[in-house]
Amino acid sequence: MPVDSNQEIPSPSSTSESIGSQTLIDRLAYLELGPDDQARLREFSPLAAGFSEPLVEAFYRHLFAFEASSKFLHDPHLVDRLKSVQKQHFLSLTEADWNDDYLERRRRVGQTHANVGIHPELFLGAYNRYVQESFRRYLGDDEGKLTPQLETMLSLLKVVFLDLGLSLEAYFNQATHAIRKALDMYWKANIELRQFAHLASHDLKTPLATVANFCDEAIDEFGGQMPDEAKALIESARQRTFRMSRMIDELLSVTTSFDLKAQLQAVSSQVAITDALDRLRPLVAEKRITVHVADNLPTVWGELVRLRESFYNVLSNAVKYAPAATGVIKIDVRPHELGYEFSIADNGPGIPPQDLETIFAPFRRSSTHRDQPGSGLGLYFAKTLIDYQEGTIRAESKLGAGSTFYFVLKAPPDATEGI
Ligand code: HEM
Repeated sequence: MPVDSNQEIPSPSSTSESIGSQTLIDRLAYLELGPDDQARLREFSPLAAGFSEPLVEAFYRHLFAFEASSKFLHDPHLVDRLKSVQKQHFLSLTEADWNDDYLERRRRVGQTHANVGIHPELFLGAYNRYVQESFRRYLGDDEGKLTPQLETMLSLLKVVFLDLGLSLEAYFNQATHAIRKALDMYWKANIELRQFAHLASHDLKTPLATVANFCDEAIDEFGGQMPDEAKALIESARQRTFRMSRMIDELLSVTTSFDLKAQLQAVSSQVAITDALDRLRPLVAEKRITVHVADNLPTVWGELVRLRESFYNVLSNAVKYAPAATGVIKIDVRPHELGYEFSIADNGPGIPPQDLETIFAPFRRSSTHRDQPGSGLGLYFAKTLIDYQEGTIRAESKLGAGSTFYFVLKAPPDATEGI
């Protein structure tokens, strides 16, 4: 058989609409699979169609001869369906119509096999059957016997399939090893983070309890000498320590819980926003900021503590940067294709366009905000918390004209209310 060294092979850098993406072009080029191959395969196609039936039967005899493959084929209806799919698959090899759709269909086959647990070595062994059978039917005598040279080539092919299987295994093992290592690191970090969260919560709650005790003592020992207003202030400080302590417990329980999806339920955005604003009330009052809140705040799909914290983080930014006395914050909501879009608009200094893209990244602070105290984590937390609730967050801003943060939150699955 002549060796074909003049075949025109698609160049890796050439692009062709009829072929498809660069990935495909590169693949074909590296395999030296070109127009001559295409022409030959297409010429062979009618012949292949002639023996596709017995070829598929031989293919399934092979699969049934081994426990490793036959255990996937207990259902006779499935086998019937697969035989017809197989026939088409085999013929499509000879149609040599290589485009992105072809790649996609082939990947889907791999995905289907992977989903049911069929290992690549079975797939390769089955492909070997295809090739061996095709050789014998195309080039063999009446009994499928080949010349010694062709038998040698077929033996070579079997070894190639063996090698392919072993190499693929090595690639998989390496990938799995890397994933296992990453997972190990993830679990270790997770456990450490939980331990840290518990310690931090303990460390935060202990001084709160001391403050509550001091308040109690102050009222018990000196209550008689205090004006009523002073007593009321101390009582309100004591109440705040309890609220703070409850909040730490809530935060700890939601942030260290594994099953995030199971925590999602129908929650009132009104309660979340009111609670968040409550915490900001002293600063709002001190800066004499006006806050407008829409009165039609809906029930959304989320988790109350995370929802409250996401609103709190964005609102606390708005309060921090809104100008004293003339500051205005507007909280609004409107329907959205996924549920609701909330907006929190302020008339603060705004965010420069170059900072807008990174404001949700951890420790990124807008250049207009650097003089204000802050960790650079508030908006990052807001985004993470909204992500957990399967929502989205984005910001629009104009320098000197304020910023608006938009939250999209899903409606509960059985929601009937509108706004
Ligand atoms: C040359 C090798 C093979 C080819 C070309 C091939 C081709 C296909 C194709 C085209 C499908 C349909 C995929 C879809 O559209 O979802 C399929 C499904 C399937 N194949 Fe294969 N196959 C091969 C090897 C094997 C082997 C070795 C086994 C058994 C060990 C097997 C068992 C199955 C099963 C059980 C399904 C159906 C999965 C499902 O839908 O639940 N195949 N195969």
